[in-house]
Amino acid sequence: MAISISLTVNGTPVTAEVEPHSLLVQFLRDQLRLTGTHIGCDTAQCGACTVHLNGRAIKSCNMLAVQAEGATITTIEGLATNGTLHPMQEAFRNCHGLQCGFCTPGMVMSATALVQTHPDASEADVRRQLDGNLCRCTGYHNIVKAVLEGAAGMKSASRNASADAAASANVTA
Ligand code: FES
Ligand code: FES
Repeated sequence: MAISISLTVNGTPVTAEVEPHSLLVQFLRDQLRLTGTHIGCDTAQCGACTVHLNGRAIKSCNMLAVQAEGATITTIEGLATNGTLHPMQEAFRNCHGLQCGFCTPGMVMSATALVQTHPDASEADVRRQLDGNLCRCTGYHNIVKAVLEGAAGMKSASRNASADAAASANVTA
């Protein structure tokens, strides 16, 4: 018997009927057609299915869709704004942090979650965070480089946003 769930996905409120045994990744891909979230193993090993749940990186093959009731989910499709890539996506592109790209959405989601909580993450922190994200192509070197460049880009974007907010507060004061 299907169960109704309500949650927020990439900033949009969603209410849907899901089967009790449906995984969150199946719900995202099959019902919401957010196919940027990949399935590499569905046994919580590869990290290709990583999304943010209430701001934390989680493997969406490792929880049921019904467990996401009331949650805020961000997928790779929710990172870019108005057609502009997120700084972490841009850094993966600049640093050639991908080859086939299958692991990349999960890598980017893990990386952004790390930098949101640890803006000054070191190379060792990045390697630790990406421990649960497997890549069969790149050898990881350029991925780590990309995450460090992406972290710098996120800090700079956040500084610019604060400066813009301060300037607009001065204009309206
Ligand atoms: Fe979820 Fe591999 S598909 S960890
Ligand atoms: Fe191919 Fe990582 S780029 S699996």
